[in-house]
Parts: sequence; C-alpha cells; structure tokens
Amino acid sequence: MFTKILGTGGYLPQQVRTNADLERMVDTSDEWIIERTGISERRIASPDETVASMGLIAAKRALEAADTDPGEIDLVICATTTGDKAFPSSAVEIAGNLGINGVPAFDLAAACAGFSYGYCLAHSMIMSGQARKVLIIGSDMMSRACDPKDRTTIILFGDGAGAMVLGASDEPGTLAVHMSADPQFGPLLSLKNPPRGSNGDGCYLYMKGNDVFKHAVVSLAKLVTKTLELGNLTDKDLDFLVPHQANLRIIAATAKKLHLDMSQVIVTLDKQGNTSSASVALALDEGIRSGRIKRGNTLLLESFGGGFTWASALVRY
Ligand code: ACO
Repeated sequence: MFTKILGTGGYLPQQVRTNADLERMVDTSDEWIIERTGISERRIASPDETVASMGLIAAKRALEAADTDPGEIDLVICATTTGDKAFPSSAVEIAGNLGINGVPAFDLAAACAGFSYGYCLAHSMIMSGQARKVLIIGSDMMSRACDPKDRTTIILFGDGAGAMVLGASDEPGTLAVHMSADPQFGPLLSLKNPPRGSNGDGCYLYMKGNDVFKHAVVSLAKLVTKTLELGNLTDKDLDFLVPHQANLRIIAATAKKLHLDMSQVIVTLDKQGNTSSASVALALDEGIRSGRIKRGNTLLLESFGGGFTWASALVRY
C-alpha cells in the first residue's frame, strides 16, 4: 500500500499589503525588501477571519479537488501556531463546519514546518491502517503575530491557508518522509503566548533573522539530501521543488544544492510572503492549479521553521 495526494486547495484573504504600504508603516523600502527577501506583497486577514475560517475554505477546495465527501475523512490535522483558541482546536472547528464527526481532529504546532509535519503524520496513519483519507490543513495569521513597528519581521509575513487530502493508494505516491527538530536554536525564533490578563503587548514574534537564515540554508541542504536518499532517488529524478516560502535567497540556495533550474521551483512568496504553516500547501496548490505540476511528476516538499523544526516529503504526484 502507498499514500497519494488526492487533491489540494488554498485560500488567501482579500486585503493586499504591498511593499509601498510597508514603507508607510516602518523605515524600509521596496528595493530593500525585494532584494533581501523576494517579496512584493502579502495578504492580510480581515478582523472577522480566523485560522479556522481560512482553513475551512482551503479544506473545502481540497475536498472538491479530491472528489471526496467530508464523510470519507478519517482524520483532520490543522497545522497552526496562530489559532484564536487553544481549544476547541481549529481542526475540531473545521471538522464541525464540514460535518465531519466521530474521527480524530487536532492542531499541530511546528511553526513553518507544520504542514510538512502534518503530511508525515498523515502518511504514517494511513500506512499503519488507522486511516484511509486524511485532511491536512496549514493555516496561519502571522501578520497579527508580528509587531507592526518591527521592520525586521512585519515585512516577511502574510496570512493564508492551504489544504490537502492524502489517501491510501495502490500506486506511489509518497516515496519518503522525514521530520526533525533541534531545540538548542529555540531562542533564535520564538512566539510567546501572552500571559493571562495581559493585553498581549510585547508578545510578538522574535527572530534573529541573519542567524535563522544561515541555519535554514544548512539544514535544508541536509534535509533535501537525506530525503532523496530515503526515497532512493537523486536530484536528477526531481521535476519540482515545492519549498517553504521564507526568503527567495534561501529557496535559491536549496535549488542550487539540488542542481535545479529556478523554472523547476514553485515560488509564491513574491505575492504571498511567508504564510508559515500554509506556505508549502499554498505553493503546491498554486503549482497544481496553474498546470505546471502534472500527475506523474516527482516533487520534493520541504519546510523549516521555529523550534527549529524541519520536515519534507518526496512525492510522485
Ligand atoms: N528595511 C530596511 N532595512 C532593514 C530591514 C528592513 N525591513 N530589516 C533589517 N534591515 C537592516 C538591518 O537593520 C541591518 O542594518 P545594519 O547593517 O545597519 O545593522 C541590515 O538591514 C541587514 O540586516 P540583516 O538582518 O543582516 O539582513 P538579512 O540580509 O539577513 O535579511 C531577513 C533579513 C530577510 C530577515 C533574513 O535574515 C531572513 O530571511 N531570515 C530567515 C527567515 C526565516 O527563514 N525564518 C524561518 C521561518 S519563520 C517561522 O518559522 C515562523
């Protein structure tokens, strides 16, 4: 038995925040942001939107693409670190709104690596016979987690949600998965929950950007090499890299390590920024819906985030 991607979906809020908008908020420039990150604009959720409401729309689109009735889903995983409640979890809320009942549903916190962690878990649950079809969602509102006065973080992040239905299959499918964490680097990238009774001031995302950048490049190079080894493939077998969308220079370094041309890399961060746990799912959905990624293509999904955490999936789509 194998697992296979049955369908994907995505959702981006309507409001666009451009680099020109950021020039009015903090001391920065369009040139600096584009040169250092590759980002031109990102989407910002409206006040009435939540991780669950964004994830619900992405999930509906993934179910439709997978031609799957919500009643067929055996497990709902929502990767997020910005849900509006600790519980009921965003996954339970999404399941409820889809009419999914009587199956496990939980949130998964692995920062930007969350969706890839979710993929690894969904794959394992199907391979161990505990599920046939799993709904995996990545949904985050990082714009609200960043200090609007901090030019080093507010420029990077956008809001959005991506989703996937992963199902049991007679043909491959998922060729390899890998996930890991290294706690020693936790202090370089953190997001504290506000203490009870406080108004939340000061509990914004902290990132030592330059150090995170260097570790991300090194860790991702090791991750993609290991994942190809686990799947008994080489970089020559890859059709597309579907990377986490943190910084175009990090993505380019990983593509170079894999000897891939940038035309073989799905890039969405120019229009979406870093949507944390939604980023890989949104990039995959964009690649599929635009017609670039076709059935039979070999894909490498990878992500890296706070923790540090990282995870990947080598996939025959
Ligand atoms: N506009 C203008 N200047 C800026 C800005 C800005 N928005 N931000 C920082 N600068 C300045 C700095 O103050 C510094 O000035 P100085 O030289 O006078 O001290 C200079 O630009 C260079 O700063 P660096 O931090 O060294 O810039 P760098 O090239 O590293 O780019 C960035 C910063 C974009 C944050 C980069 O380090 C990065 O992408 N880091 C990794 C992010 C990442 O991968 N995160 C993981 C996922 S996120 C998650 O898990 C939630």
